[in-house]
Amino acid sequence: MLQPKLKSKVRCTDLDIGEVTKVVLDPLSHEISHIVVSMNGSGERQVAMGHVQAVTDDFVQLRAPSTDILALPPFRREDYVTTHEVEISHLEDNIHVTPGEVLVPLPELEKNVKRRAFFMNFTHVIGFLIGLPIAYPIVRFLMKPMYASFDNEWLNVGNVSKIKHDDVGVQFKYKKKVKEAYMPEYEVEKNVWVLRATSELLEKVYKDKDMDFHDAKGKTIWTNKKTIPYVAFSGKCPHLGCAFKWRQHKTLGQVFLCPCHLSIYDAAGKVLDGPAPRALDALPVRVSAGGDVEIIDMEFKAGTKSQIRIV
Ligand code: FES
Repeated sequence: MLQPKLKSKVRCTDLDIGEVTKVVLDPLSHEISHIVVSMNGSGERQVAMGHVQAVTDDFVQLRAPSTDILALPPFRREDYVTTHEVEISHLEDNIHVTPGEVLVPLPELEKNVKRRAFFMNFTHVIGFLIGLPIAYPIVRFLMKPMYASFDNEWLNVGNVSKIKHDDVGVQFKYKKKVKEAYMPEYEVEKNVWVLRATSELLEKVYKDKDMDFHDAKGKTIWTNKKTIPYVAFSGKCPHLGCAFKWRQHKTLGQVFLCPCHLSIYDAAGKVLDGPAPRALDALPVRVSAGGDVEIIDMEFKAGTKSQIRIV
C-alpha cells in the first residue's frame, strides 16, 4: 500500500471527512502508525492505520463510516513531538511524506514532567497560603523524604535459574515502596536486566577494574568484582528514562533496544546507536549460595554524560 500523504483527502465508507494534516511514526518499526485527520471543522482525530483500506496519490480510503471516526477522541498534539525535535537516527528514511508535521509519541517520562511541574506549583501555592513565618519548618517537614540519604538496601529480585544462556539479557521485575515528599507511601513496579556474563563480556563491562558504588556521602558501599559472572543494569534508559528491551537487531545481533528514541546498547551496556549520552547504568549485584539475585536499586539522572545518582 502507498503511504498516506499530508493534505490527502480522507474518505470514509459514506463520505469525505477531511484531510491528512499529520502522520505519526512508530519509533520502533519506523512505519506510519496513525494519520491525523482534520475533520472539516470538527477538530482533529488520530486514526490508526488499521482503519485505512487503501491509499492513492490523492485519497486515503478508510474502512469505517464517518460516525466511527468522529467518535474517536480528539487528537492531543501535546502527547507528541515532531521528528525534528527528537534524534532518532534514520527515522524518516522510509517515509515519503511532503515536509510537514511528522510526529512520534512523547515518551511517558516526558509526560510525567508536566505532572511533576504541576505538583511543584501546587506546593508553592500551599507554601504561600500558609505564610512565610511558618512556611519554612512545615515545608521542610513535608519535604523531609527528599533529604533522606539513599536507600542502599539489598532487594531480592528473583532466582538465577531464570537465566538460561550466557551474555543474554534477562529481565527481573520487582516491587519497591516509594515515599515522595508529602505523598503517601506507594509501591512501584521496577525492573533490572541481569546477564550471566562470559569472561569476554565481563572484560567489556569492567575494563579490568572492579566497580565501586557509593552512598550519598561518597563512601563506597559495595564493589562489583570484575570476576563475578553476573552483571545487572538498571531498567531505565540513560537517555530519558524509558524502559528498554532485549531484542534481535537485523545487523547488530542481540542488543538492548530502547523504543522511545531508538538508543541501542550491546550486552555490555555500551551505546551502539541513538541519542543515549552514556552506557547503561550497572547496579550492585550479588547472587546468594541459594541462587537469589539481589541488587541495590539505584537511579541515575537521565540525559547526562556522567552518572549522577539521584535515588
Ligand atoms: Fe530516549 Fe531511551 S529514552 S532512547
